[in-house]
Formats: sequence, structure tokens, C-alpha cells
Amino acid sequence: MNLKKKTRKFFPCVYFFFFYVFFFSSRVQPSEAATKDSPKGHVKLMNHLHASSVVFPVSGNVYPLGYYYVLLNIGNPPKVFDLDIDTGSDLTWVQCDAPCKGCTKPRDSQYKPKCNTLPCSHMLCSGLDLPQRRPCLDPQDQCDYEIGYSDHASSLGALVTDVFPLRLENGSTRHPHLTFGCGYDQQSRGPHPAPPTAGMLGLGGGQVSISSQLSDLGITKNVIVHCLSHNNGKGFLSIGDELVPSSGVTWTSLALKSTSKHYMAGPAELLFNDKTTSVEGLDFIFDSGSSYTFFNAEAYQAILGHIRRDLKGKALMETKEDKSLRVCWKDKKPLKSVYDVKKYFKTITLRFGSQKKAQLFQVPLESYLIITEEGSVCLGILNGAEIGLDNYNILNIFFQGIMVIYDNEKQRIGWIPSDCDKLPNVNNDHGGDLSKEEAAYPRGFGLIRWLFSGADSSNNKKDGEL
Ligand SMILES: *[C@@H]1O[C@H](CO)[C@@H](O)[C@H](O)[C@H]1NC(C)=O
Repeated sequence: MNLKKKTRKFFPCVYFFFFYVFFFSSRVQPSEAATKDSPKGHVKLMNHLHASSVVFPVSGNVYPLGYYYVLLNIGNPPKVFDLDIDTGSDLTWVQCDAPCKGCTKPRDSQYKPKCNTLPCSHMLCSGLDLPQRRPCLDPQDQCDYEIGYSDHASSLGALVTDVFPLRLENGSTRHPHLTFGCGYDQQSRGPHPAPPTAGMLGLGGGQVSISSQLSDLGITKNVIVHCLSHNNGKGFLSIGDELVPSSGVTWTSLALKSTSKHYMAGPAELLFNDKTTSVEGLDFIFDSGSSYTFFNAEAYQAILGHIRRDLKGKALMETKEDKSLRVCWKDKKPLKSVYDVKKYFKTITLRFGSQKKAQLFQVPLESYLIITEEGSVCLGILNGAEIGLDNYNILNIFFQGIMVIYDNEKQRIGWIPSDCDKLPNVNNDHGGDLSKEEAAYPRGFGLIRWLFSGADSSNNKKDGEL
């Protein structure tokens, strides 16, 4: 990435000042300003006993989209942004009208900064874990960031702080001020175009991650749960630990040797059809933001070898059809579902822990195979060596049909096969089937209407909000 790229100073704040004064005097009741969550609340002051969770319906798929996203409200008045969920990076950013280069959203759907940049002396700026750190010459300067992703996409911008209206699982509403990036220069030099989403929701383990910020404010635990469905591109994402089942979860500890803040577990052994492949010592990065699952060359060749051996003499013929998915097979008739080929493919298993106390991550064929639009079946595992990943293995497609739990509180990662179409019942008020009307909107979306109509919220007085 080009270090010398010129950063842009956000427009003078004086214009915004008048808008801000106008807006606040017209819309917000005085009680709110006094009780909203402190923007400087980075110290763990709050009692975590009462921490709740935020739950978002997820849309997207591995193929053909290659990403999953949630809708999130930011600002006052709130604007809704569709953000790619990424447990592989910390920084949340949105396309920013400052003005913007490389934005895919029209101007009125971009975030408008309003004199709310974070000074570069702030700990969230100095703590940014990015390779391209910019010097902080004057402590009052805006905090610039530049972030690059493994698929060669990048975002350049400045950190800002704004209010995130959230409805919690326990029925309360909160308006924490959270820090995120206002990205005014996006590039995608990789083979795939950048997702058309408004930005990224960074859910890594670092300080600036949204889950770390919510946990520092005592609103949620620093735990992330996602559950992505196989077939219909639905699922849910939760920050907080209320959705974590009390039993049945397989846990393995996060590898601390990782210098990056990635969620990495290992070493693990690779099994095919419950038998050893003699490939072991594998470290796996749990990354919801990666488009595919990547294995290092050895693991990739081993799996491919086993599958090809199994298919020898069978009806499926290898074919080269899809550009991004290298290995595909076709039947005499176009395939409609992975269940059409169930008899040909076996389960892949990652065995974490020791032989005696093993933690198995089982990947049924429907979680590693992809049916293309042409009706072929393709291997959803790619050779990491082809994108320069030699040591690491990145999991993504394997997450389908599995609830994955990133527990930063206890430094562990867990999983349990789940029906991701359904939101587990946490309490009677909010649990339920996501396929109904809520599917299109995040929980908390109702809050937009609420804020605009200035609705009476006395039923929530206990919370001290609104
Ligand atoms: C819900 O959780 C928040 C903290 O996350 C807490 O402040 C609030 O009191 C809780 N509300 C109820 C009704 O328990």
C-alpha cells in the first residue's frame, strides 16, 4: 500500500456547528444528553453482571455473493448502513462523504462526518493495530487510518465517533458513542470487486473492535456469536453472550502465539471421512470476512487427493467452469442441491486439542461444497498458496449451519451445529423466527421511527435513556 497517499482533512467544523445546534435543540430532549453513554468510557467501570446482547439478522451467502452483512444504524438522526461482518479485522468503517473516492453508495447513503473526528492522541488511535501507522504530530490532528485486506481491497479515512442507537436483547435501548472509520478512499485491486456494502463491521479482538468498545462500556460482554444458514442466505450475528448455549458447545482455546489479533486456534489435525490424513499442526484463523475457506498447500492437496480418489469411476466428471472456484465436477444433469451428490462426498474434520481430549470441528459436505449457477458442484476450499497464504488456514465457508462463538472474555472459540434460520429464544419478548418480518431489518431498526417521532418512552425510564 502506498504510504505516501495524501490524507484529507475533513471540512471545517464551523458549518457543522450550526447544524448540530439546530438539530439538537429540535430533536433531543435534555434528559438524553445528560444520560447517554460517555464517549470516553473506555475504562471498565460498568458492572458486567447486567451486560446484555445486541442481535442482528444477517443476509448474504458464500456463493455467489461472497459475503455476509448486517444493517446497522449510526448517528442522530440515524442512518442505516449495510456492513460486511468481519471477525478477521478490528476496525469498523463506512463509506464517507468527505467527499469519497471509490465509494459504491450514492452520496446520500454515505456517512457524513460532522466535526466528530477522533484526535490522533486518543488511545483508540494509538492502539490501532494497522501496519500503516501514521505519525501523530499535533495531538489534536484527526486520526487517519489506512487498512488493507487479504483480498487486496483497502480503505483510507479518518476515525470519527458517533452514536449507535441499539436495542438490546433485554429490551433496553442504549446510545453508546462508538469509534469507527469514515472511509473516503476505497480501492479494490484484487481479482474480486469489493462488496457493494457500505463498509465493514470489525469484530476482531482488538481495542477498536465494536465488541471491545461495547464491552468497555459495560453494555455487552466481549463475545461474538454468528450463525450462518446453509441454503437461504440468512442467519444472525450477536455481540454479547446471551445466545451462547449453556451446554453442547465444543470449546478450544485461542492460540496466543498469534502476534496479530486474529482469532486463531490450533494446532489441529485434518481428518477425512473420520480417518487421519497425516496432515497436522494446522493453525486456523476464524474469519467471517474472508470470501472462501483457504487451506495451506499441504492440507489442500491432501483433501483434494482424497476427494479425487473417492470420485474415481463415479458419475461425476471434473470440469473447469467457475473462475474463482478452481475445482468443480458436473453430473449428467445440472445439479440443484448438494444433497444430489451426498453419496459421493465425505465429512472433513478438524481435530483440535490432544488425541485424548480432542475438540472436533466437523464439516459436513454441504458446508464445504458449493453448487454453482451452472449446476456444477465445486470445492469451497481454495489453495491458500495461490493468494500467498503459506502458513495459515482461513475458515469461512465451514461456518454454515454452525453457531460459532468468539469468546474474548475467556480467550476461547466455540462451535455447535445449529439451525441458523431460527433465532434461539433468549427471552419471550424477542426470540423467534427470523424468516418473518424482521428478516429485512436489524433489531433496533424500529428505533429510527421512534427517534423521529419523538415517541414517549416512559416505559423504559428505568434505563435512563431517551
Ligand atoms: C439491559 O442491559 C443493560 C446493559 O447491557 C443494562 O444497563 C440494563 O439495565 C438492562 N435492562 C434490563 C431491563 O435489565
